[in-house]
This record gives sequence, structure tokens and C-alpha cells, in this order.
Amino acid sequence: MKRTTVNGVQLSYHDQGTGLPLLLVHAFPLNSAMWRPQLEALSARYRVIVPDLRGFGASELGRDAISLDLYASDLATLLDQLGVERVAFCGLSMGGYIAFAFLRRYRERIRALILADTRAQPDTEEGRQNREQMARAAEEQGPGAIADQMVPRLLSPNAPEALRAEVRQIIEANDRRGIAAALRAMAARPDATPLLATIDVPTLVIVGTEDVPTPPDDAQRMRGAIPNSRLIEIPGAGHLTNLEQPAVFNAAVDEFLSPAIAYGQGGGGGGPW
Ligand code: MLT
Repeated sequence: MKRTTVNGVQLSYHDQGTGLPLLLVHAFPLNSAMWRPQLEALSARYRVIVPDLRGFGASELGRDAISLDLYASDLATLLDQLGVERVAFCGLSMGGYIAFAFLRRYRERIRALILADTRAQPDTEEGRQNREQMARAAEEQGPGAIADQMVPRLLSPNAPEALRAEVRQIIEANDRRGIAAALRAMAARPDATPLLATIDVPTLVIVGTEDVPTPPDDAQRMRGAIPNSRLIEIPGAGHLTNLEQPAVFNAAVDEFLSPAIAYGQGGGGGGPW
């Protein structure tokens, strides 16, 4: 992985391939390692940029108060450093919440949007209280306790044991303080529902048919509210669609972005591109 200083902290990231820049923003409580199948396959056609958000993976947490806006600012600054003006922004779950924060502040830098297994609405009061409890569990017991709670919710019941083990390993590699900070940041996020009708870039919504944390209903609502959007529901996948059905996920992303490549090369992508 590469490393650079962004907003005063050392961030780690992958930057692989050439072509249309595709930014992949990870879910909670994972890190860039969850995008392994996408980095391998999609970097043949795209410039795939995959950061560890601050406090996750090999990225430092720093001392600033963590918010989704701060993660978004880190991403914009990282892109500045890489000389990348506009990206196809793909966020899964918490990565989607960060996509909404990025849209609010840096709308002009998004060429296309992929919202995977995420939702626009904020937490309920009960949801916020659960986050605070989980944040305390992370601080007191470490990432293993969080993996115990999360792994069964992130994958469908039929997910292979090896994948469960991989997801657990990714979670356990994270810093307990980074996990707690992300929980509090997610609890404080505003409602993104009013933003949906204003999204004016081509948008792909993806959801696993067996996604429990952000079920297909949430995805259908986003699809209904975002003007130029389409929805792909992936059977045989829970919340982490990109890991449970990587070939289907990658094909959906590639098919969605291909017209942008054709357009960039003067090929006339047509439609929204
Ligand atoms: C995620 O996958 O990022 C989380 O499930 C999001 C959440 O807890 O709301």
C-alpha cells in the first residue's frame, strides 16, 4: 500500500490501474481489504483508488473529532494529492453515508455514483443508543467483540466459512478507537433523503437481496428518489455484496461505467453520460 499525509494524518491507500478513476470507500467496521476482488479485477480497466479511512487498516486516527465530513475531506484531499479531479465514487454502507457527505461538499468532483448496500435515512434514537453501546464495547473489549456482533449481520446465512473468516480477520485488524469513532460519526450523520432528488450524476444503486442492515426496501427508495438512477439487486448476497458475489458486483459496476469510458474516448456514451 502507498502512504501519504492528508489533513495531518498518515493515510494508506491503493492506487492501481489507469483510466477512469474509481474511488472505493469501505464499510464499517472494515477497511480497504474488503475491496480485494474489485481491486484485482477492475484495475484492468479503471484507475482504482482504495483508501483505508482514518482510524481503519493502516491509516492513523489522528486527534481531530471524527465526522463523516472529515472522512469526506480526507478523500477530497487525497484525490488532490493524486491529481485526480473527478471520480466515479463507489461507497458501500458507511462508504455510502460518506458519499452523501462528499456530495454535499464536493459535488462537482463526482462523475458517477455507486451506492451499494446503504441508505439515505439517519439513525433512529434507538439506533444511536445501540451505536454508543457498541462504541463502548469496542473501546473496552476490542475489535474481536465487534466482529462477534457484526459478522453474522454482514453476510448471508449461506456465505462460505472461509469468507466469514476473512471478514473477521479484516475487522480484527482495525484499531478499537477508530471503530468507536466511526460509530459515533455515523450516529451523528444527518438525513440524506432531501439530497436524493438533487443528485444529477448517473447513479447505480446495488443491494444484496439478503441484506439485513440495509435491506432492498432502502435501495428501492433511493432508486425511486434519485432521478437518473438504476437498481441492481444481487441474489445470494447479504450486506457485503462485493465480497459475496464479486463477479456479479464487478460486472454491474463495469457495465454501468463503460459508457463513461466510451464517452471519454469520444465514443459517444449517450444517455446521461
Ligand atoms: C456498514 O456496513 O458500513 C454498517 O453496517 C453501516 C451501519 O452500521 O449503519
